[in-house]
Amino acid sequence: MPKIGNIELPDFPLLLAPMEDVSDPPFRKLCKEQGADVVYTEFISSEGLIRDAAKSVIKLDIYEKERPVGIQIFGAELDSMLQAVDIVEASNPDIIDINFGCPVKKVVCKNAGAGILRDIPLMVKLTEEIVKRTKLPVTVKTRLGWDQNSIKIVEVAERLQDVGIEAISIHGRTRVQMYKGEADWKPIAEVKNNQRMHIPVFGNGDVDTPEAAVKMRDEFGLDGAMIGRASIGYPWFFNEVKHYFKTGEHLSPPTMQERVEAARRHLQMAIDWKGEKLGVFETRRHYTNYFKGIPHFKEYRMKMVTSDAAADVFAAFDEVQEKFWDYQFA
Ligand SMILES: Cc1cc2nc3c(=O)[nH]c(=O)nc-3n(C[C@H](O)[C@H](O)[C@H](O)COP(=O)(O)O)c2cc1C
Repeated sequence: MPKIGNIELPDFPLLLAPMEDVSDPPFRKLCKEQGADVVYTEFISSEGLIRDAAKSVIKLDIYEKERPVGIQIFGAELDSMLQAVDIVEASNPDIIDINFGCPVKKVVCKNAGAGILRDIPLMVKLTEEIVKRTKLPVTVKTRLGWDQNSIKIVEVAERLQDVGIEAISIHGRTRVQMYKGEADWKPIAEVKNNQRMHIPVFGNGDVDTPEAAVKMRDEFGLDGAMIGRASIGYPWFFNEVKHYFKTGEHLSPPTMQERVEAARRHLQMAIDWKGEKLGVFETRRHYTNYFKGIPHFKEYRMKMVTSDAAADVFAAFDEVQEKFWDYQFA
């Protein structure tokens, strides 16, 4: 069974990917309840943390019930990253994750995120110092390389392991690809097949069906799957994969009752966490997926995403539940 430091995980664990504006405490809790074995926060700026920027600091909030939880940080300045590690450690997560994969220009141009893939010695140095700084297990999330001509992930992963990381998650795309094309899991399998690798190697990118997860496990031999987009507004995905592993059969999709219940809880948790105004605003992006596929839904969706008062959104949920109570999801 794979382990991250002392954290014991089940066979082929499923990890909730770090996702900006998505992987917040309410969403992570729902994913955990639906079978995610490890959850990660969205990336948090090391510079923001050390400036005590409220927007960054609030991202450190974690619920006891979502453990094991990893807090992900990004940055390229050693001093800031080390100070950020101290701040992160004080909020007592189970794991610290370093983001070496974000492809966004404003991050990359400062050599952070995937930008660091152009400077492997710096990537290794930063990682080594972070591992030395903290007692928590450190994991890395990265991409295959900067571009197609610079894929050195086998060597990079081994060097990161040698400086002490406890697991690596690899998104099967280069920085240049951003999110285009298909994720290539072959180089990730090469990392796993490197005889010197002994830490878990988790695959990421395009695990969007239970069959894809089986393929990653059985054909590519990886230690677990990190799941991002397939879970947005669909936390049930983790259980669906696990059920398929166990039985070879697909679980029926969640009913309208279950979807409305999840949307209600999601909104309530967000309000409890951030207050009504922000809670209502930040949960909006999830509704489209919760209710995906229902015909002539626009009118209801508009109510959910344009109301500022929580009571109006809850009323829209009630209305949907009443109107579509027997809708059969495909
Ligand atoms: C909305 C969104 C936000 C993301 N934010 C982050 C992030 O904060 N940190 C990170 O390492 N990756 C981030 N990613 C990348 C995902 O973690 C993941 O690597 C990518 O979506 C591929 O996996 P998937 O095909 O399962 O979605 C983000 C992706 C999406 C779609």
